[in-house]
Amino acid sequence: MHSILEHLEQLDLADHQGSGAEHPNAATETWVSPMDAWSSESDKTNPLRSNGGDRIPAPCAMVIFGVSGDLTARKLMPALYDLTVGQPLPEGFTIVGVSHRDWTEEDFRAKMREAVGSAARMPVTAESWELFSRNLFYVRGEFDNPDTYAALKTRLDAIDVERPTAGNRLFYLATSPTYFAPILRGLSAAGALERQANYLEPTEGWHRVVIEKPFGHDLPSARLLIAEMATLLTERQIYRIDHYLGKETVQNVLAFRFANILFDPVWNRQYVDNVQITAAEALGVEGRSGYYEGAGALRDMVASHLLQLLTVVAMEPPAFFNGNAVRDEKVKVLRSVVAPVGSEIATRVVRGQYDHGFVGGQPVPGYLEEKGVSPESTTETFAAMRLGIDNWRWSGVPFYLRTGKRMPRRVTEIAVEFKRVPHLMFQNIRDLDLTPNVISLRIQPDEGIALRFAAKVPGARTQLRTVRMDFLYGAAFGESGPDAYERLLLDAMLGDPTLFTRRDEVEAQWAIVQPILDGWHEPGSSGPLPYEAGSWGPAAADIMIERDGRSWRRP
Ligand code: BG6
Repeated sequence: MHSILEHLEQLDLADHQGSGAEHPNAATETWVSPMDAWSSESDKTNPLRSNGGDRIPAPCAMVIFGVSGDLTARKLMPALYDLTVGQPLPEGFTIVGVSHRDWTEEDFRAKMREAVGSAARMPVTAESWELFSRNLFYVRGEFDNPDTYAALKTRLDAIDVERPTAGNRLFYLATSPTYFAPILRGLSAAGALERQANYLEPTEGWHRVVIEKPFGHDLPSARLLIAEMATLLTERQIYRIDHYLGKETVQNVLAFRFANILFDPVWNRQYVDNVQITAAEALGVEGRSGYYEGAGALRDMVASHLLQLLTVVAMEPPAFFNGNAVRDEKVKVLRSVVAPVGSEIATRVVRGQYDHGFVGGQPVPGYLEEKGVSPESTTETFAAMRLGIDNWRWSGVPFYLRTGKRMPRRVTEIAVEFKRVPHLMFQNIRDLDLTPNVISLRIQPDEGIALRFAAKVPGARTQLRTVRMDFLYGAAFGESGPDAYERLLLDAMLGDPTLFTRRDEVEAQWAIVQPILDGWHEPGSSGPLPYEAGSWGPAAADIMIERDGRSWRRP
C-alpha cells in the first residue's frame, strides 16, 4: 500500500522528468553508448563503484553562457567530459558555448581541449577527444544584443533536427549575476526559452536553467532576482547550484545520519555540546578580486556553503530523498536559526582580513596587496560566528561557523562535540583530562568520518587516553567520488532538484546573514581585523568561543 506521501513523491519525480521519453528508465532500454569503450578499467572492475548506469538522461542541448570564463574551464567542461566518458551521457548530447569572444568553432574546441586536459579526471586520448568534441558548438554574441539570442535559437532548432535532442534545453548561466535577468529575457524574447507551467507534458522538450551563486547580493536583491526569474520560468525549471551539495561527503552526512540507527539517538541537545563547522582555505583570492571585493567571506561562503552544511547536519529526517521532502526540512532548519543581531554582532561575529605571511612555507602577500584590491578595502576574508537553532532538537546548542582564506591549510569539516559523561568512576582521572567524544565529518580533503573516544591504555594501571576511529573514503571504496559538478550537472539533466537550492532556502539564508551585513555597514563600525596569512584567523575568533568556555578544534 502506498502512503499519500509516497504518491506525492512519484508525482514529484514525474514532474521533474518532464515527458515520458526522458524518463531515465525509458532511455535505458533503447540507449546504446558509443562511449562504453572509454570507461576506465577501474570503473568496470571496482565492485564498490556505482557508475550510476541507471541514471541516464535524455539527450539535450546544454547551452553555456560565459563559456570563455574560469568556471567553464575549471569545472564545467572537465565535468562534462568526465560525465561523457565515465557515466556516460547519451548519444547526441550537445554543448553549445556562447560568449563575446571572436572564436571560431575550432578555436572554441581547442580552448576546451586545454581545459579538459588540465582538469578532467579521466584520461584524454585523441580518440576520446574526437568523440567528445564533435558535440561542441559555438555561438558568438554579446549578452545585451537580441541578435545573439536569435542566432542561438536558429542554431538550437537546427540541432534538434540533426541530433536527437528533441527540444530539450539546459541553459547554464556561468556569468556574473548581473547578466542572469538580461540573458533570460533575451532567450525568452527569441522564443528559445519557454515558461513551462506544465512540466509533466511540455510541448516540445523541457527547458531548464542553471544558475551559480551568488543568488543576489543581499536579501532584497535576492528577492528581486527570484521575482524576476519567476516571471520567465517556473520554480521547477530553475536549478540553483551550491556546489557543496554536490560533494559526495556532504551527501554522505545524510547517509550517515539517516541510514544508520546508531547516531540519531544522540544527535540532539541532550548529548551534543556544540557543533563546529569549518571551511578553511590555504588559497587567497586567486585573481578573483573583481568578484570578491564586492562579496567577502560572509556572502561568498557563509550565506551559501556553510549554511548548507549546517542544514545537512541539523535537519530532521525527511520522509523521502526527493526535491521537496529534503528541501522542506532544510528550510525549516534555516528558519529556526537564531543569528546575532544589533549589539550581539560585536561579540558573536568576527570578521578578519589576511595580512601577508607564510602558507605552506611560502611567503604570500596580504589581501590589500592583491591585484585589483583597493588599498582601503574592508572586505572580509575571514568570518566566524556563533549561531543557535531554536527548535526541539537543538535549543541551547551553539553552532560555531568559521571560514577564511589564507589559513594554514585547506580543510572543511563538521565536528559534532558531545557532552562529558555525567560521572567519571575512574580514580585519579579527572574529567577535564579527557577530551569529550567528537564525531568529525571530514568534507575535504582526507574525506571520511572520525570518532574520538576514550580508551584504556594497556597496562596494570588504569589510565585513559583519547583515541580515534577512522573511516576513510579512499580506503573503504578504493577511490574518491566524482567532482561535485558531475553529480549536479547530471541531476539537472535528469530533472532532479534535490541537491539544488530552492527559492525559499535562498531567502532564508540571506535572512540569516542580512542583520550582520547591516551591522557591519553601520557608521562607526570597525572594519575587519587583520590576521597573519597562514594563521587560523584573528585572535578575536578564539576569544569569542573561549567566552563560552570552549575552543576551536584544530582540524
Ligand atoms: C566558491 C567560492 O563558491 O567556493 C570560493 O566562491 C571558494 O571563494 C570555493 O574558494 C571553495 O570551494 P571548494 O570546493 O574548493 O571548497
